[in-house]
Amino acid sequence: MQTITVGLASASADRSYPIHIGSGILNQVSLISHHLPRKRVAIVSNTTVAPLYMDNLRSVLESQGITCIPVILPDGEEHKNWQTLNLIYDALLASRCERSTPIIALGGGVVGDLAGFAAATYLRGVPFIQIPTTLLAQVDSSVGGKTGINHPLGKNMIGAFYQPRIVVIDVNTLDTLPERELRAGLAEVIKYGLIRDPDFFIWVEQNISGLLARNIPVMVEAIERSCRNKAQVVEADERESGLRALLNLGHTFGHAIENAMGYGNWLHGEAVAAGTMMAVELSRLLNMISRSDVERIRALYVRTGLPVHAPDLGMEKYLKLMELDKKVEGGRMRFVLLKRIGEAAVHSDIPIEVLAKIFPDRAVNA
Ligand code: NAD
Ligand code: GLY
Repeated sequence: MQTITVGLASASADRSYPIHIGSGILNQVSLISHHLPRKRVAIVSNTTVAPLYMDNLRSVLESQGITCIPVILPDGEEHKNWQTLNLIYDALLASRCERSTPIIALGGGVVGDLAGFAAATYLRGVPFIQIPTTLLAQVDSSVGGKTGINHPLGKNMIGAFYQPRIVVIDVNTLDTLPERELRAGLAEVIKYGLIRDPDFFIWVEQNISGLLARNIPVMVEAIERSCRNKAQVVEADERESGLRALLNLGHTFGHAIENAMGYGNWLHGEAVAAGTMMAVELSRLLNMISRSDVERIRALYVRTGLPVHAPDLGMEKYLKLMELDKKVEGGRMRFVLLKRIGEAAVHSDIPIEVLAKIFPDRAVNA
């Protein structure tokens, strides 16, 4: 087992926490039991993940005398909303959960974001534990404390920063993950290489076959290197006042795609890949990135089986959705662009005539 610490110590409090990564570690109750002082825990999962992993987790915890309160949500991005959040509050209240009763998120990013927001807000905050079961959640969403829900007008528009006490990543859960979800998770792995870790980008290029084949040591290395990158960014800028914005590479475009296509129709990682290609093409039009880097990025997405062409929504619709995105500041849209593979920067004031060239209906060759 490997452990990475997200260091969030300050003069007033130490909110640092460990990320444990390993094969079969869901059975190690000792990892989480000291976070369960009152011997009760709510486990939030969904109708797909609970039948696969809830019984095992419950029996491990209950063998130590810990009572589990299962909360099973409908599955899907289209359920990441107020109605589903309320199902969690209903269950917590019905079971008389107290401020000391932790919530465990057992599932992908949707369950993690919903359960985390419930943990941040129920009784003004209860302890939170992440057990992510998709690659995307293991390399990105379970770490860093962003929680929340979608609004019909915009993705992830309502939420809170709320850090977990511990993240437990059992790579064996990836055995049951559908192929399309695995590929979508790799979009966020590739992101770290693009924005800050060029050696990791090369490593992913060299190991993409092993990743798609779910080779365990290769998978563990990808998760470990991704979590290390994410932890470093979150430690430097927990609340996204600067550096953390780089983690949103491709997301301004991607969130517009997810919303416009109907939540759940394009997977988050797919929208991020197509959105990143738009950001990369914009970077090229601004003479920031070399043509050869653009082609390397496109080639890696293609090998990963991720989309490199965004849907044709028309420029007006893209702009309308992007203006609603959280990356707008002072009315100006901000874009994460690439100078080269491994180096990103935030830019605003992109001339509209340049921006217009990257939308699919007006696409030009980079
Ligand atoms: P998801 O949670 O919808 O999971 C994908 C699918 O896989 C679901 O059907 C789920 O039930 C199923 N699943 C989960 N684990 C499984 C397993 N082990 N075996 C079989 N099936 C399994 O999607 P996701 O890609 O994990 O997460 C996407 C969400 O994460 C988006 O809402 C996105 O906005 C959010 N996100 C949040 C952050 C953050 O920092 N909080 C970062 C990135 C993405
Ligand atoms: N996925 C973006 C972030 O955690 O900041």
